[in-house]
Amino acid sequence: MSHQQNQSSRRRFLQQSVMTGAGVSVPYFYSTPKTLAQETKSKNDRVSMGVIGAGGMANGNMRAARDWVDVVAISDVDRGRAESSNQNMSAGKATLYEDYRALLDRKDIDAVHVATPDHWHTKPVVEALLAGKDVYCEKPLTLTIDEGKLIRRIQEQTGRVVQVGTQQRSTFNLFVKAMALVAEGRVGKIKRVQASIGGAPTSQAIPVAEVPAGLNWDRWLGPAPKVDYRFLSGKGRGKTNCHYEFRWWYEYSGGKLTDWGAHHVDICNWALTLNGQTEGPVGISGSATHPVEFKNGYPVEGDRYNTATAFHFTLKYPNDTELVIRHDERNGVLIEGDQGRIFVSRGALQGKPVEDLKDNPLPEDAISNVYRGMPMERNERAAHWANFLHCMRSRESPISDVHSHMKGLNLCHLAGISARLGRDLRWDDANERIVGDDEANSFIARPYRAGYQIDLPA
Ligand SMILES: NC(=O)c1ccc[n+]([C@@H]2O[C@H](COP(=O)([O-])OP(=O)(O)OC[C@H]3O[C@@H](n4cnc5c(N)ncnc54)[C@H](O)[C@@H]3O)[C@@H](O)[C@H]2O)c1
Repeated sequence: MSHQQNQSSRRRFLQQSVMTGAGVSVPYFYSTPKTLAQETKSKNDRVSMGVIGAGGMANGNMRAARDWVDVVAISDVDRGRAESSNQNMSAGKATLYEDYRALLDRKDIDAVHVATPDHWHTKPVVEALLAGKDVYCEKPLTLTIDEGKLIRRIQEQTGRVVQVGTQQRSTFNLFVKAMALVAEGRVGKIKRVQASIGGAPTSQAIPVAEVPAGLNWDRWLGPAPKVDYRFLSGKGRGKTNCHYEFRWWYEYSGGKLTDWGAHHVDICNWALTLNGQTEGPVGISGSATHPVEFKNGYPVEGDRYNTATAFHFTLKYPNDTELVIRHDERNGVLIEGDQGRIFVSRGALQGKPVEDLKDNPLPEDAISNVYRGMPMERNERAAHWANFLHCMRSRESPISDVHSHMKGLNLCHLAGISARLGRDLRWDDANERIVGDDEANSFIARPYRAGYQIDLPA
């Protein structure tokens, strides 16, 4: 490229890159690479997909991926959800299964999308990998630290492609551009990163209720402890320990610490990695507020939401860098370096290094240096799917692979353990263990209910 051409493309980048936020025109570099549509030339290139857990997120995801995948099988433990999703995802043509293992037995299925509640991620992901499928699993990938070790091991053994649904990693105008600024040294050496996340809701006591027709409650609970189904009607979807609201129970989720931490702490960790931070944190300090009393890490009442409503945790690195996870209604990520700071969220990218782009634009390869794989699609969700489907063909590691995801998610899990026990913890990042605290270490794994253990080949 001549100097003149270089200048003119830099100017184009400048014009487009200073605009931020949703709905902004895509940066110029998108206009040249192939799109997945170009790569998916014939019917034979379409991917036969099985969906496990056909709730709100799976339906949104299958809309985003509809140009490239055929949903041929759907598994949901709620018959009504499986049937309505069949209409939405495949005009009623998919085969429905209550037990997802029948779906994994099918040889015509190339990949599976796991979008069950968090307590039901690890088992189907591991079994799908062992059945030879590539997997797109929703975030947070696991409910515990040890589950991450298992998924990584099986992914390495099988060589399958696993994408985690942290679509902020494919949001080019905001998060990816922020990462490019970090990688280009525009904030200097990072001293502090901060993930700000809103708190979880509370509930009053939610009464035991009759299990709705078509819902297999025992299978919905799966590996989690056997408890009654609860429901209280009210505004919106009502309060329950089941669909969508599972997020507010530690039995099925980590609350906001993992629900949003999986996104924002992942971005903090990505920034630190690009900035050359090789060592993990050595400990966590801070506190959280819960809507119920906790004893030995467990809620004393089992009839209402129990995850943290407020929290403030600091993870310290050996070189004094800090990663903060805090409750704050201004949801987003703050990256503070010795030469500048940037704030990035789903609606904004701000700070002096961003303003400086008008005089000092990013080099042309700044984005491709931080983002591997297929970039261009209509929105971040479609782009994240395109990245997965592209990596299925190329056998590259996708942009949210299990290794990078667990590096960030482990810190969210650690914050959850500290929150539940109400004390600071020391952390051995290399071995992914809590130091000198047996009780805290007992939370890095969880017991699986009989009949729902993960069977690994000998
Ligand atoms: N990437 C994002 O921004 C994002 C946004 C929302 C949700 N999510 C994630 O997606 C996942 C699902 O969330 P949701 O809001 O769609 O929940 P949901 O409750 O609406 O849907 C989950 C579905 O899984 C089904 N299910 C439960 N156990 C099953 C099993 N063993 N086999 C088959 N189906 C089973 C349920 O019946 C339900 O239909 C969660 O892990 C959540 O964190 C990610």
